[in-house]
Amino acid sequence: FPRSRPLNRLGVVMALRRNPLAIWTERHFTERALAGEGLRGYGVFLADPEGIRRVLVENAANYPKDDLQRKILAPGLGQGLLVAEGELWRRTRRILAPVFTPRRVAAQASAMQGAAEAIAARLARMRPGRIVDAAEEMTRATYDVLKVTLFSNGLAGDAASFSQALTRYFNTQGVIDPLDLFDAPAFLPRIGTLRSRPALRFFEERVAAIVAERRALIEAGTEPPDDLLTALLKARDAETGMGLTEREVGANIVTFIGAGHETTANALTWSLYLLSTAPDVRDAVEAEAEAAAGSAFDLAAFPVARAVVEEAMRLYPPVALLSRQAVADDVAAGVRIPAGATVAISPWVLHRHRALWSAPDEFRPERFLPGARDAIDRFAYLPFGVGPRVCIGLGFALQEAVILLSALSRRVRLDHAGEVPPEPVQRITLRPKGGMPVRLSRR
Ligand code: HEM
Repeated sequence: FPRSRPLNRLGVVMALRRNPLAIWTERHFTERALAGEGLRGYGVFLADPEGIRRVLVENAANYPKDDLQRKILAPGLGQGLLVAEGELWRRTRRILAPVFTPRRVAAQASAMQGAAEAIAARLARMRPGRIVDAAEEMTRATYDVLKVTLFSNGLAGDAASFSQALTRYFNTQGVIDPLDLFDAPAFLPRIGTLRSRPALRFFEERVAAIVAERRALIEAGTEPPDDLLTALLKARDAETGMGLTEREVGANIVTFIGAGHETTANALTWSLYLLSTAPDVRDAVEAEAEAAAGSAFDLAAFPVARAVVEEAMRLYPPVALLSRQAVADDVAAGVRIPAGATVAISPWVLHRHRALWSAPDEFRPERFLPGARDAIDRFAYLPFGVGPRVCIGLGFALQEAVILLSALSRRVRLDHAGEVPPEPVQRITLRPKGGMPVRLSRR
């Protein structure tokens, strides 16, 4: 792909179920905007930086998240920060923003390094030549980081299972159901929703245990760790003095585990794959990692690793689609956007757009080295979104990805050992279909 001609309606329904990336045509990769009647009414596709700025920043209040997105996310993530709108979103964002200030994120570096070293050492102990699934390893690694940082190990019991339940949720609820596409009545059962029930039950039980564990600590008078979980339970919005209800706390626990580790894991998985296709770049990442070994973490000391992660997210954006719904009529990129229209902004398309990038399909991390990156339009590169709904974990994710990539680069090499090229599939997040087999060797 991209395909030369658009799919018919049935083709679109099938593609949305199998792999939504398959709907994009060559025109999407060359035109700045396309508009017309789609499966869910009038839709506008935007790949124009100025138009994107209008929708996501300048007139963002006119563009809440669309219904279909909410239908997919809300059963599991409830009214957490990713899904909430209006006053609840503002209150939650204000309560949680202090957890993600640059100073707070920098203070997490040593905990991240500890978790990263443990993962790298575990891989280094394995038999050389062994094939492992990089996607699975990276998901485990980023889950471990999340657990020791934002939750101070307070995830109540066996760690990996929460991550697995989320993957099950993404793989079941993340398959777009034709009933949702055509707004069939809510009482008709959706297959994905039925199949995601065990995961939803798991979230409910585990969230109750996590909250009970931390509340017990707080009630015992012990100073609770200054982390995300404590902020969710104790913090009050500075403007309104309001906190979060028990239900909102639970929704945000699932949201932060859901949004906060598999995305970064995918960015790392694709980084490892791309590095194994570019030996010179890999040498540079290894040299940089060795030069910085033993020092306190400073992101500025890792320009190459950072550029690799950013270029990997250009080619394989973990969040491959941003979608919104217009409340009132508007105009963006010279195109009329009537009230009710769905607006689709696809980082997958935008990041490979023929008019915005040179050699758009090639892995060239030097685009993101200091100096060169200033030439990139702020609205042509959106792995973390932009505007008021920009990823709250942006700094956290970038720091974590660089720490993990460098820790791995010092100890092991992971050579891609699967189908070439690996096929990306969009299931809420973008990941390699069937995993990413890599052959392990020690350094
Ligand atoms: C929002 C991408 C890591 C938590 C977003 C959005 C994107 C994104 C594109 C905006 C969605 C939209 O506008 O529709 C990513 C990528 C990551 C990453 C590519 C890793 C490479 C993280 C981490 C956390 C996190 C580590 C938390 C620890 C969130 C939350 C939101 C969000 C809670 C919703 C923010 C709001 O609506 O106010 N992320 N994210 N993400 N992200 Fe991330």
